Amino acid sequence: MTRVLSCIQPTGEVHLGNYLGALRVWVEGQHTKDAFHGIVDLHALTVTEVPDTVGNATLELAAMLFAIGLDPNVATVFVQSHVTEHSQLGWMMECTVSFGELSRMTQFKDKSAKREAEFVSAGLFTYPALQAADILLYDTDEVPVGEDQRQHVEITRDIALRFNHRFGDTFIVPKAVTPKAGARVMDLQDPTSKMSKTAGSDAGLVNMLDEPAEIVKKFKRAITDSDSEVRFDRANKPGITNLLEILAACTGETPDALATRYTQYGPLKADAGEAVVELLRPIQARYHELMADRSELQSLLRTGAAKARAVAAATLARAQAAVGMLPA
Ligand code: TYM
Repeated sequence: MTRVLSCIQPTGEVHLGNYLGALRVWVEGQHTKDAFHGIVDLHALTVTEVPDTVGNATLELAAMLFAIGLDPNVATVFVQSHVTEHSQLGWMMECTVSFGELSRMTQFKDKSAKREAEFVSAGLFTYPALQAADILLYDTDEVPVGEDQRQHVEITRDIALRFNHRFGDTFIVPKAVTPKAGARVMDLQDPTSKMSKTAGSDAGLVNMLDEPAEIVKKFKRAITDSDSEVRFDRANKPGITNLLEILAACTGETPDALATRYTQYGPLKADAGEAVVELLRPIQARYHELMADRSELQSLLRTGAAKARAVAAATLARAQAAVGMLPA
């Protein structure tokens, strides 16, 4: 069975880009693939400076992952720091990737530039090595992610190949998988930038827990293009293309087919907003139910961690043996 692994950081609220680009694909894949999904709190530490925030964010994210339909009896959902092998293999990966390779990561360049006068941790720079460990620990075949994570999966492949070449066949070389529509959801106010927790205005960001009226308003106010033609054209009509793509991701139709149905921007904005509201309505209800029982959520995460650890421990041992480290 194909092994799938993907992860999400517990930083800020989950947004529509996360859902359409990645999470939805995780849910769809869980019955046909052997699925592992991590809440990567160690990654969140790269930007965490306030005490008592990351644990709460982790629990809320767990509730959201179960609310969207990940079934704890089917998929393995775990917290990264509960499986200590991630840190251990992470270090080995740091020693297998070069400074030059890490310097070329666009996410590091973007994030460090955005933090400007703020503290830029070394972890933000070495982050892709830990991500490689996340992936390689599970003998992963496929990594379902949004377009922005492709480069990190590419570097993981390079690291795996280098390690296998140096120390003998140890790791499966994974590949990234992105959805047809929704792989790069753009900010509604700045459709040339991806929708993101850290970038853009609140008006351009649709959170999974936004009230229906707020969602409708955000779509109504979405920035569109200067002429009034509805057509799918990423380069020249980024605003309209983004709305068509979001609507396509919600309805399962193609953006091109949808474009033929609209002659004005207004109805497209209204339909896209409504489609998102309907998509999120049952998820929001389920989320609030799940958050009412925090100890049950923690218990589900403990079960997930035990299942994850069994796989991760075997892979770490294999990697250490391949290098020839002295057993404890
Ligand atoms: P993160 O937490 O930023 O995002 C989680 C997932 O959401 C996708 N995504 C988007 N997709 C489409 N449009 C958008 N605007 C958009 N914004 C975010 C991301 O591509 C991602 O799939 N480094 C990762 C977390 C990570 C990971 C891993 C992923 C750590 N280890 C191992 C896969 C495998 C990250 O920061 O994702």
